[in-house]
Amino acid sequence: MSNKMWGGRFATGPSEIMEEINASIGFDKQLYAQDIQGSKAHCRMLAQTGIITHDDAEAILHGLDTITSEIENGSFEFSRQLEDIHMNIEARLTEIVGPAAGRLHTARSRNDQVATDFRLYVRDTVDTLIEQIVSLQQALTRKAAAHADTIMPGFTHLQSAQPVTFGHHCLAYVEMLDRDRSRFADARRRMNENPLGAAALAGTSFPIDRDATTQMLSFDRPCANSLDAVSDRDFVMESLSVASICAMHLSRLAEELVIWASAQFKFVKLSDSFSTGSSIMPQKRNPDAAELVRGKVGRIIGALNTLLIVMKGLPLTYSKDMQEDKEPAFDAFRNLSLCLAAMTGMVDDLEPNEEILKDAAMAGFSTATDLADWLVRELGMPFRDAHHVTGQIVARAEALDCDLDAVPLADMQAVEPAITQAIFEVLGVENSVRSRTSFGGTAPENVKQQAEKWRIALEQAATTG
Ligand code: ARG
Repeated sequence: MSNKMWGGRFATGPSEIMEEINASIGFDKQLYAQDIQGSKAHCRMLAQTGIITHDDAEAILHGLDTITSEIENGSFEFSRQLEDIHMNIEARLTEIVGPAAGRLHTARSRNDQVATDFRLYVRDTVDTLIEQIVSLQQALTRKAAAHADTIMPGFTHLQSAQPVTFGHHCLAYVEMLDRDRSRFADARRRMNENPLGAAALAGTSFPIDRDATTQMLSFDRPCANSLDAVSDRDFVMESLSVASICAMHLSRLAEELVIWASAQFKFVKLSDSFSTGSSIMPQKRNPDAAELVRGKVGRIIGALNTLLIVMKGLPLTYSKDMQEDKEPAFDAFRNLSLCLAAMTGMVDDLEPNEEILKDAAMAGFSTATDLADWLVRELGMPFRDAHHVTGQIVARAEALDCDLDAVPLADMQAVEPAITQAIFEVLGVENSVRSRTSFGGTAPENVKQQAEKWRIALEQAATTG
């Protein structure tokens, strides 16, 4: 039997394989809510403009509500023969309301329909992701406030560089995530145009009102070019690039947690709820959640790649290739959402090991820069010379196998006679971090202020959305 929706000119139906490669219902049923939302707006507009009667519109709207409950209570029967979510819903609508259902597709095509559904879906998803980012930022900010003066080693090249505070480290991620949030908000603004009414590709001869559907669907304006409206998937790719950058940030934090939770570092303890044991080694506590957050970035960047490659060779306007946009996008957004939730839980439960962090901060001559800065400030030495003098003192400490603040004054004076006892005031890690008061620096005072600033800003973001 040929297809009920478009089979007028076909003598027979598709082969089994054709049906399999063609059908998208297996995954695009996730768009049912947006599809019905779009159909309702289209239907109301058709009635308002006199293109269909109010009676027909009422029947259609009622039928669409029935379908929503059928899908949500699990009684709706999806059929592969009906290809996709659009035709599955329309076929059921015909069963419920009779021939009037056929009027819903007046002045519409699946091309503008799917473009609209997918925009609504991505828009909803981006809104949720933004909220989740705020929650993670809040968790990090709470840790930052609690550990504004917890000292830890700061690293470059994963080598001990200078002491910093744990709170400062947490707030670095708050900054990164804030850029992700602003990129999502920016992508949302750009995507918020209404493709509905572009019809197949050229617009329609019916007197439709695109501003009406735009308003009903909370878009900012109708897409201005019908060809672009049905062929554009920038909104998905843009959101996936933001998702990729965000996932990359989460992966960096995850990597730090994996290192920090190791027996060699012991910087932090991850809670039992976010660790797993080993089936053979009873002593193990594995940071699986962090590892998975780090691992999932692969499929998220993969989704962006997939879409860029699917789209890059397509002539205007719609081609069926574009049906391949959905699965990777669904997968990527679902996994980013999961990663954000897991990371929020891990950060909330995270317990920094203050003693070990401080000991580690003292190792590796981490206050050498403070020593050099003292020579510059107190002795008026050019920084390059101070760097050299400090290097010789570090070598002395290495030979004595002690920290910088344990090198005897006489040994320092052997390198630079003008050095006085006062130098020891800058050599402790507490003094070091306390002195980093330049804007954006790691001093506990700064961190407290920044954490408070973020607390207020994020509380506002969480309530106003
Ligand atoms: N299932 C299709 C998709 O996801 C819907 C659009 C089909 N349009 C068409 N002209 N065949 O892209």
